Amino acid sequence: MSMAENNLLVVDRDDDFVASAKTLFDGSLPVARTLEEASQTVTSGDVRMVLIGPSYNDDAAMDQIRSLHNQDPSLVLMMVADVVTADILRKGMRAGVSDVIEAPLDEAKIEAAIEQFAHDVLKRQVTDTSSEAPEASGEKGRIITVTSAKGGSGKTVLATNLALVLNRFPDSKVVLVDADLQFGDVCLVLQLEPRFTMVNAAHELHQLDGELLDSLLTEHPSGLKVLAAPLEPAFADDITTAGLMQMLDVLRDNFDYIVVDTAAMLDELILSLIEKSDDILMLVDMDLPSVKNAKLALETLRLLKFSTANVKLVMNRSNSKAKLDNKEIEGALKMDISASVPSDAVVAASVNEGRPVVETDPKSRVSKGFESVAELIAGKVPEAEGRKSVFGRK
Ligand SMILES: Nc1ncnc2c1ncn2[C@@H]1O[C@H](COP(=O)(O)OP(=O)(O)OP(=O)(O)O)[C@@H](O)[C@H]1O
Ligand SMILES: [Mg+2]
Repeated sequence: MSMAENNLLVVDRDDDFVASAKTLFDGSLPVARTLEEASQTVTSGDVRMVLIGPSYNDDAAMDQIRSLHNQDPSLVLMMVADVVTADILRKGMRAGVSDVIEAPLDEAKIEAAIEQFAHDVLKRQVTDTSSEAPEASGEKGRIITVTSAKGGSGKTVLATNLALVLNRFPDSKVVLVDADLQFGDVCLVLQLEPRFTMVNAAHELHQLDGELLDSLLTEHPSGLKVLAAPLEPAFADDITTAGLMQMLDVLRDNFDYIVVDTAAMLDELILSLIEKSDDILMLVDMDLPSVKNAKLALETLRLLKFSTANVKLVMNRSNSKAKLDNKEIEGALKMDISASVPSDAVVAASVNEGRPVVETDPKSRVSKGFESVAELIAGKVPEAEGRKSVFGRK
């Protein structure tokens, strides 16, 4: 690697780390052994990027890193840690670090970090020049919870596709929260490998703010952000209802739409979500058990004196052979059907491929169905193509 030869400065007090960094950059690499020394080199030279080694991961170093950042805010600071924990990431970000790379260093990791950084800068510039940032208006984002009283009725498919459609609005920031705590599969369906999940957020509740939570989100190539579910069912215990509500409060300050996927249950978590959400999309499959369970769930909500004013019925697989009569369903549930999504074989294929159908088949009837749900939420439908093309997939 030679690109960074003169603009890259490595700082570490550990000989082995410095030696390994030198090997990576053909031996010719400016090195500082202390952060003070780094600060002097930055003043005198044309350093653009500083790679801070694992011996400077401690709290005392963070203050010095922060001064280095203040000295020249355009400087790209990258930290290297033996293990990237949420704690180091948070402290690093607070100190002005762009990313934390896990040791041992290799070319691919550094390049990925630089690429990510460039992507972030580019995006920041675009949002700066476009209209008002959402947080500036002080308005809170809308929480949309997708539920169903029966498993496998298409919640995850709806939540992911809906989030992607909403994300097409040029000025909308959208985050998808996987609140199916034990068997969440949002990341699987979107082909994402999260570095962090809501378990990390749950461990930082005492100091959770927008910046920290943002660093724990996973980004889809479309720009959609995802708060991933725990990676193993056992970790679900770490997520309390109050904790998840706190995460939603933080997200609400920074995003326009917060789409929440859930597990098919009527437990404390779902009840809290229903109470908190601006919209509850109750997905009902076109079969008798689904309708029966939806009826029971709605009756339970009414019994518990929960308002069902924000609940909207969405029919899935509305064109299925065993088609029930819409009027009968509406009568049984004492609620009108707000939107319908037809059944389509392309859905299963898109799930297996890890690319949601609104991306693979935007013109299909099922995609139009997801757009009609987005319209229900936003009052309008975003164009299928156009914006975010700079960052979007090929
Ligand atoms: N409109 C549709 N047309 C065709 N297939 C669909 C449709 N909606 C959902 N499916 C299929 O049903 C399967 C289950 O959907 P999904 O995983 O979204 O359900 P879920 O409600 O999230 O399930 P769980 O309760 O287990 O989380 C998907 O793999 C998909 O193939
Ligand atoms: Mg699901």
